[in-house]
Amino acid sequence: MYTTDEERVTLIQGEALTVLRTLPTGAVDTVLTDPPYSSGGITMAARQVDPAQKYQQSNTKRTYPAMLGDNRDQRSFTLWATLWLSECWRVAKDGARIMVFTDWRQLPAMTDALQAAGWMWRGVVTWHKPSARPSLGDFKRDAEYVITGSKGKPTMHTRTCPPGVYRHSVNAARKTHLTEKPVALLEDLLAVTAPGPDALVLDPFAGSGSTGVACLNTGRRFVGIELSAEYHARASNRLAEVAQNMAQN
Ligand SMILES: C[S@@+](CC[C@H](N)C(=O)[O-])C[C@H]1O[C@@H](n2cnc3c(N)ncnc32)[C@H](O)[C@@H]1O
Repeated sequence: MYTTDEERVTLIQGEALTVLRTLPTGAVDTVLTDPPYSSGGITMAARQVDPAQKYQQSNTKRTYPAMLGDNRDQRSFTLWATLWLSECWRVAKDGARIMVFTDWRQLPAMTDALQAAGWMWRGVVTWHKPSARPSLGDFKRDAEYVITGSKGKPTMHTRTCPPGVYRHSVNAARKTHLTEKPVALLEDLLAVTAPGPDALVLDPFAGSGSTGVACLNTGRRFVGIELSAEYHARASNRLAEVAQNMAQN
Protein backbone atom coordinates (compact mmCIF):
# COMPACT_ATOMS: atom_id res chain seq x y z
CA MET A 1 0.00 0.00 0.00
CA TYR A 2 1.23 3.50 -0.84
CA THR A 3 0.09 6.51 1.24
CA THR A 4 1.09 10.18 1.04
CA ASP A 5 1.57 12.35 4.11
CA GLU A 6 -1.72 12.91 5.96
CA GLU A 7 -3.16 10.04 3.88
CA ARG A 8 -4.57 12.38 1.24
CA VAL A 9 -3.78 9.70 -1.34
CA THR A 10 -3.90 5.96 -0.67
CA LEU A 11 -3.16 3.31 -3.27
CA ILE A 12 -3.83 -0.32 -2.35
CA GLN A 13 -2.41 -3.23 -4.31
CA GLY A 14 -5.08 -5.90 -4.56
CA GLU A 15 -8.15 -7.25 -6.31
CA ALA A 16 -10.87 -4.61 -6.59
CA LEU A 17 -13.84 -6.62 -5.35
CA THR A 18 -11.89 -8.14 -2.46
CA VAL A 19 -10.56 -4.77 -1.31
CA LEU A 20 -13.87 -2.93 -1.85
CA ARG A 21 -15.52 -5.38 0.56
CA THR A 22 -13.17 -4.18 3.31
CA LEU A 23 -13.97 -0.46 2.86
CA PRO A 24 -16.50 1.23 5.18
CA THR A 25 -20.08 1.90 4.10
CA GLY A 26 -21.04 5.44 3.02
CA ALA A 27 -17.46 6.75 2.97
CA VAL A 28 -16.74 8.11 -0.52
CA ASP A 29 -18.10 11.19 -2.28
CA THR A 30 -17.26 10.13 -5.83
CA VAL A 31 -16.41 7.00 -7.81
CA LEU A 32 -14.38 7.75 -10.95
CA THR A 33 -12.98 4.68 -12.63
CA ASP A 34 -11.73 3.12 -15.84
CA PRO A 35 -12.12 -0.68 -15.55
CA PRO A 36 -10.78 -3.23 -18.04
CA TYR A 37 -13.24 -3.12 -20.96
CA SER A 38 -12.98 -6.78 -22.04
CA SER A 39 -13.55 -5.38 -25.50
CA GLY A 40 -11.47 -4.79 -28.59
CA GLY A 41 -13.02 -7.35 -30.96
CA ILE A 42 -16.26 -8.61 -32.42
CA THR A 43 -15.63 -12.29 -31.68
CA MET A 44 -14.79 -13.99 -28.40
CA ALA A 45 -11.40 -15.05 -29.79
CA ALA A 46 -10.60 -11.46 -30.75
CA ARG A 47 -11.49 -10.22 -27.27
CA GLN A 48 -9.15 -12.69 -25.64
CA VAL A 49 -6.13 -11.42 -27.55
CA ASP A 50 -3.40 -9.72 -25.47
CA PRO A 51 -4.64 -6.17 -24.62
CA ALA A 52 -1.34 -4.77 -25.93
CA GLN A 53 -2.39 -5.99 -29.40
CA LYS A 54 -6.08 -5.12 -29.07
CA TYR A 55 -5.66 -1.55 -27.88
CA GLN A 56 -2.48 -0.41 -29.67
CA GLN A 57 -1.95 0.62 -33.23
CA SER A 58 0.17 -1.87 -35.11
CA ASN A 59 2.92 0.73 -35.71
CA THR A 60 3.27 1.51 -31.99
CA LYS A 61 6.62 0.39 -30.64
CA ARG A 62 6.17 0.87 -26.88
CA THR A 63 5.61 -2.03 -24.54
CA TYR A 64 3.74 -1.93 -21.22
CA PRO A 65 3.21 -4.31 -18.31
CA ALA A 66 0.35 -6.74 -18.93
CA MET A 67 -3.13 -5.33 -18.38
CA LEU A 68 -5.01 -7.81 -16.22
CA GLY A 69 -8.66 -8.84 -16.23
CA ASP A 70 -9.46 -7.88 -19.81
CA ASN A 71 -10.69 -11.20 -21.20
CA ARG A 72 -14.18 -11.84 -19.84
CA ASP A 73 -16.95 -12.85 -22.20
CA GLN A 74 -20.05 -10.67 -22.45
CA ARG A 75 -22.21 -12.34 -19.80
CA SER A 76 -19.46 -12.69 -17.22
CA PHE A 77 -18.31 -9.11 -17.87
CA THR A 78 -21.80 -7.77 -17.05
CA LEU A 79 -22.10 -10.01 -13.98
CA TRP A 80 -18.63 -9.06 -12.72
CA ALA A 81 -19.24 -5.34 -13.31
CA THR A 82 -22.50 -5.59 -11.36
CA LEU A 83 -20.63 -7.11 -8.42
CA TRP A 84 -17.99 -4.38 -8.10
CA LEU A 85 -20.44 -1.59 -8.95
CA SER A 86 -22.67 -2.87 -6.10
CA GLU A 87 -19.75 -2.64 -3.68
CA CYS A 88 -18.98 0.88 -4.96
CA TRP A 89 -22.64 1.77 -4.32
CA ARG A 90 -22.33 0.51 -0.73
CA VAL A 91 -19.17 2.48 0.03
CA ALA A 92 -20.56 5.68 -1.58
CA LYS A 93 -22.40 8.38 0.35
CA ASP A 94 -26.02 9.17 -0.49
CA GLY A 95 -26.04 11.60 -3.42
CA ALA A 96 -22.53 10.50 -4.55
CA ARG A 97 -21.59 10.66 -8.23
CA ILE A 98 -20.21 7.75 -10.23
CA MET A 99 -18.41 7.97 -13.58
CA VAL A 100 -17.26 4.84 -15.41
CA PHE A 101 -15.28 4.74 -18.66
CA THR A 102 -16.32 2.36 -21.41
CA ASP A 103 -16.14 1.98 -25.19
CA TRP A 104 -18.90 1.68 -27.79
CA ARG A 105 -19.01 -2.13 -27.59
CA GLN A 106 -19.46 -2.32 -23.83
CA LEU A 107 -21.69 0.72 -23.40
CA PRO A 108 -24.96 -1.31 -23.20
CA ALA A 109 -23.44 -3.91 -20.82
CA MET A 110 -22.01 -1.22 -18.55
CA THR A 111 -25.24 0.81 -18.34
CA ASP A 112 -27.09 -2.43 -17.47
CA ALA A 113 -24.55 -3.28 -14.76
CA LEU A 114 -24.57 0.24 -13.31
CA GLN A 115 -28.33 0.18 -12.86
CA ALA A 116 -28.43 -3.43 -11.67
CA ALA A 117 -25.97 -2.40 -8.94
CA GLY A 118 -28.42 0.22 -7.67
CA TRP A 119 -27.04 3.40 -9.24
CA MET A 120 -29.31 5.94 -10.92
CA TRP A 121 -28.10 6.25 -14.52
CA ARG A 122 -27.85 9.95 -15.42
CA GLY A 123 -26.25 10.06 -18.85
CA VAL A 124 -23.21 9.49 -21.03
CA VAL A 125 -20.33 11.94 -21.49
CA THR A 126 -18.31 11.61 -24.70
CA TRP A 127 -14.53 11.74 -24.72
CA HIS A 128 -13.40 12.67 -28.24
CA LYS A 129 -9.92 11.27 -28.97
CA PRO A 130 -8.69 12.94 -32.16
CA SER A 131 -5.65 10.64 -32.38
CA ALA A 132 -7.72 7.41 -32.74
CA ARG A 133 -6.86 5.17 -35.68
CA PRO A 134 -8.98 5.61 -38.84
CA SER A 135 -11.23 2.80 -40.20
CA LEU A 136 -11.00 2.24 -43.96
CA GLY A 137 -14.50 2.63 -45.46
CA ASP A 138 -16.15 3.08 -42.06
CA PHE A 139 -16.75 5.79 -39.49
CA LYS A 140 -13.76 6.59 -37.31
CA ARG A 141 -14.25 5.22 -33.80
CA ASP A 142 -12.68 8.22 -32.16
CA ALA A 143 -14.70 8.39 -28.95
CA GLU A 144 -14.87 6.63 -25.64
CA TYR A 145 -17.69 7.14 -23.17
CA VAL A 146 -18.12 7.96 -19.50
CA ILE A 147 -21.32 6.62 -17.99
CA THR A 148 -22.54 8.93 -15.25
CA GLY A 149 -24.81 8.09 -12.35
CA SER A 150 -25.62 8.87 -8.76
CA LYS A 151 -26.55 7.13 -5.54
CA GLY A 152 -30.14 8.34 -5.34
CA LYS A 153 -30.78 12.01 -5.95
CA PRO A 154 -27.39 13.57 -6.82
CA THR A 155 -25.89 16.23 -4.59
CA MET A 156 -25.25 19.35 -6.72
CA HIS A 157 -21.77 20.86 -6.41
CA THR A 158 -21.57 23.39 -9.22
CA ARG A 159 -23.72 26.15 -10.63
CA THR A 160 -22.03 25.92 -14.04
CA CYS A 161 -23.40 23.97 -17.03
CA PRO A 162 -20.53 21.65 -18.09
CA PRO A 163 -20.47 20.30 -21.68
CA GLY A 164 -21.26 16.67 -22.58
CA VAL A 165 -18.34 16.26 -24.98
CA TYR A 166 -14.65 16.71 -24.10
CA ARG A 167 -11.74 16.64 -26.53
CA HIS A 168 -8.39 15.53 -25.13
CA SER A 169 -5.47 13.81 -26.81
CA VAL A 170 -3.48 10.98 -25.29
CA ASN A 171 0.18 11.83 -24.91
CA ALA A 172 1.51 8.55 -26.33
CA ALA A 173 5.14 9.53 -25.75
CA ARG A 174 4.68 10.14 -22.02
CA LYS A 175 2.05 7.64 -20.94
CA THR A 176 3.11 4.75 -18.71
CA HIS A 177 -0.06 2.63 -19.00
CA LEU A 178 -1.42 0.91 -22.10
CA THR A 179 -4.86 2.57 -21.70
CA GLU A 180 -3.93 5.66 -19.71
CA LYS A 181 -6.53 8.45 -19.56
CA PRO A 182 -5.54 12.15 -19.86
CA VAL A 183 -5.37 13.85 -16.45
CA ALA A 184 -6.99 16.98 -17.94
CA LEU A 185 -10.04 14.91 -18.92
CA LEU A 186 -10.31 13.47 -15.40
CA GLU A 187 -10.08 16.96 -13.95
CA ASP A 188 -12.91 18.08 -16.26
CA LEU A 189 -15.04 15.16 -15.02
CA LEU A 190 -14.34 15.97 -11.37
CA ALA A 191 -15.89 19.43 -11.91
CA VAL A 192 -19.39 18.13 -11.03
CA THR A 193 -18.24 16.23 -7.93
CA ALA A 194 -17.82 17.17 -4.27
CA PRO A 195 -14.93 19.68 -4.01
CA GLY A 196 -12.55 20.51 -1.21
CA PRO A 197 -9.96 18.79 0.96
CA ASP A 198 -12.45 16.42 2.62
CA ALA A 199 -13.94 15.12 -0.64
CA LEU A 200 -12.90 11.49 -1.17
CA VAL A 201 -12.68 9.96 -4.67
CA LEU A 202 -12.49 6.18 -5.22
CA ASP A 203 -10.94 4.48 -8.27
CA PRO A 204 -10.94 0.65 -7.93
CA PHE A 205 -8.99 0.21 -11.22
CA ALA A 206 -6.29 2.81 -10.73
CA GLY A 207 -3.80 1.73 -13.43
CA SER A 208 -1.02 4.32 -13.55
CA GLY A 209 -2.80 6.53 -11.00
CA SER A 210 -4.20 9.18 -13.38
CA THR A 211 -7.35 9.68 -11.25
CA GLY A 212 -5.12 10.15 -8.19
CA VAL A 213 -3.09 12.81 -10.00
CA ALA A 214 -6.32 14.61 -10.96
CA CYS A 215 -7.38 14.49 -7.30
CA LEU A 216 -4.06 15.91 -6.10
CA ASN A 217 -4.26 18.66 -8.76
CA THR A 218 -7.80 19.61 -7.75
CA GLY A 219 -7.33 19.32 -3.98
CA ARG A 220 -9.40 16.17 -3.37
CA ARG A 221 -8.55 13.02 -1.42
CA PHE A 222 -8.07 9.74 -3.30
CA VAL A 223 -8.24 6.04 -2.62
CA GLY A 224 -7.23 3.71 -5.44
CA ILE A 225 -6.96 -0.04 -5.95
CA GLU A 226 -4.74 -1.74 -8.55
CA LEU A 227 -4.23 -5.47 -9.04
CA SER A 228 -0.98 -5.40 -11.00
CA ALA A 229 2.13 -5.02 -8.84
CA GLU A 230 3.93 -3.28 -11.71
CA TYR A 231 1.21 -0.71 -12.28
CA HIS A 232 0.80 -0.23 -8.53
CA ALA A 233 4.51 0.61 -8.33
CA ARG A 234 4.33 2.96 -11.33
CA ALA A 235 1.28 4.73 -9.92
CA SER A 236 2.86 5.04 -6.45
CA ASN A 237 5.99 6.63 -7.93
CA ARG A 238 3.93 8.97 -10.09
CA LEU A 239 1.72 10.09 -7.19
CA ALA A 240 4.72 10.57 -4.90
CA GLU A 241 6.41 12.74 -7.53
CA VAL A 242 3.30 14.91 -8.03
CA ALA A 243 2.78 15.26 -4.25
CA GLN A 244 6.44 16.20 -3.78
CA ASN A 245 6.33 18.83 -6.57
CA MET A 246 3.22 20.32 -5.04
CA ALA A 247 4.82 20.46 -1.60
CA GLN A 248 7.85 22.29 -3.03
CA ASN A 249 5.81 24.90 -4.96
C1 LIG B 1 -8.14 0.53 -18.06
S1 LIG B 1 -6.89 0.34 -16.89
C2 LIG B 1 -6.90 1.86 -15.95
C3 LIG B 1 -5.98 2.88 -16.53
C4 LIG B 1 -5.99 4.18 -15.74
N1 LIG B 1 -7.23 4.90 -15.94
C5 LIG B 1 -4.82 5.08 -16.10
O1 LIG B 1 -5.04 6.21 -16.58
O2 LIG B 1 -3.68 4.64 -15.94
C6 LIG B 1 -7.57 -0.82 -15.78
C7 LIG B 1 -6.64 -1.28 -14.70
O3 LIG B 1 -7.34 -2.18 -13.85
C8 LIG B 1 -6.44 -3.18 -13.39
N2 LIG B 1 -7.25 -4.34 -12.99
C9 LIG B 1 -7.75 -5.34 -13.76
N3 LIG B 1 -8.48 -6.19 -13.04
C10 LIG B 1 -8.45 -5.71 -11.76
C11 LIG B 1 -9.04 -6.15 -10.55
N4 LIG B 1 -9.83 -7.24 -10.52
N5 LIG B 1 -8.80 -5.42 -9.43
C12 LIG B 1 -8.04 -4.30 -9.46
N6 LIG B 1 -7.45 -3.85 -10.59
C13 LIG B 1 -7.65 -4.54 -11.73
C14 LIG B 1 -5.53 -3.44 -14.58
O4 LIG B 1 -4.28 -3.97 -14.16
C15 LIG B 1 -5.42 -2.02 -15.18
O5 LIG B 1 -4.25 -1.38 -14.72
